[in-house]
Amino acid sequence: MSSQGFHYQNNTLYADDVPLDQLGRDHGTPLYIYSASLIRDNIRRLRDALGDDVLIAYAAKANTNGSILSLMAQDGLGADVVSGGELLRALRAGIKADKIVFSGVGKTDDEIALAIENKIAQINIESGAELERIMAVATEMLPAGQSVPVAFRLNPDVETEMTHAKISTGHGRSKFGMPAGEILGLYKDAAKHPSITPVGLSAHIGSQLTALDPLRDAFHRLADLAGHIRGFAPVECLDFGGGLGIVYTDEQPVDLSGYAALVRDILAPLKTRLITEPGRFLVGNAGVLLSQVIHVKSTPNGPILILDAGMNDLMRPALYDAVHTILPVQEWNDAKTSYDVAGPVCESSDVFLRDVKMATPKRGDMMALMNAGAYGLTMAGTYNSRPIPAEILVDGERSAVIRQRQNIDDITRDERTPDWLAA
Ligand SMILES: Cc1ncc(COP(=O)(O)O)c(C=O)c1O
Repeated sequence: MSSQGFHYQNNTLYADDVPLDQLGRDHGTPLYIYSASLIRDNIRRLRDALGDDVLIAYAAKANTNGSILSLMAQDGLGADVVSGGELLRALRAGIKADKIVFSGVGKTDDEIALAIENKIAQINIESGAELERIMAVATEMLPAGQSVPVAFRLNPDVETEMTHAKISTGHGRSKFGMPAGEILGLYKDAAKHPSITPVGLSAHIGSQLTALDPLRDAFHRLADLAGHIRGFAPVECLDFGGGLGIVYTDEQPVDLSGYAALVRDILAPLKTRLITEPGRFLVGNAGVLLSQVIHVKSTPNGPILILDAGMNDLMRPALYDAVHTILPVQEWNDAKTSYDVAGPVCESSDVFLRDVKMATPKRGDMMALMNAGAYGLTMAGTYNSRPIPAEILVDGERSAVIRQRQNIDDITRDERTPDWLAA
């Protein structure tokens, strides 16, 4: 029987049936490692809760590696994309165009044209200005009798207390979505336009949500608005967004059956197609960032463990004050000294954790930053000229490199030196 996900076996941390220290030795560190079986399990849990009728459109931004997208395609998922690049990567991975929705506040004319050309399920419109752009592009591209399906993103103006300010999107001052009153007017305009078909509404109120209340409020507002619109135009589809939180430390994640009950009780009675856009829930716990201790720096305030992974590799702690638990690959039983854990990047914010209890770590020890499968590698950059890490996909006993480690030539390849500076 093969094991699933990240667990200790004989005091060593494994991904499925593969020991992480072996992967670290074979491929170097920092190294992203994902468990395919855990991703499939997350999909199954969500499907079991919501039922097969709800289209799961994976929020590709959480992890856009082609192999991860292929895994989603194989399981019949759609995608929520927020750029032309994500749209192309989703299509290349085999995700069906008619299961792709395109969100985001700033789609360019080229991106709108790409969406129309590929006949995706719907463009989720975020402003009146964007509707005008889509009308113009669609009129130019489409022959008479054809139209582009669009949905309107509601900003339900609910506070999501439990989430970080930088990942909450459904409150009044957020740049995302539109108030209900504005959507009523735009929906009417769109319904009259020959090249546009308004098919419904969308909403996404934030990420890493752990409470059901804001979701309940948002779903009610979505359903109310759909009811109003049905007085003058059809509403065939409700896209209720993503945002399901996961456990990073001691959070109580949203209870899936409670979440499914909200969908069933508030949205399903409208008898529309239903779409959800989870990102973090599907891949967050299915990835770790493996790192090695460069050395332990002693300071008057206590020891600092300096890792070879930095904020350029995993930005969430620096960006959102996010906490990723750190586990030693060789399990220790006697963790009693407190360490701060930092990366090598020249920024004070390049600190992963403070005051973690450990047993005398030393140079070369491997550590795993847990729950790094979502918004990890996709947010990585090359600050300090640090190459983007490699990525490994593990599936049972198998493992494969799904992204090679960059080198310095990869980083400088696109640079050009003007003649007048060349030696
Ligand atoms: C429109 C939209 N849908 C879905 C998501 C996915 O969110 P999560 O990864 O929290 O499920 C996001 C993330 O920011 C988003 O902006």
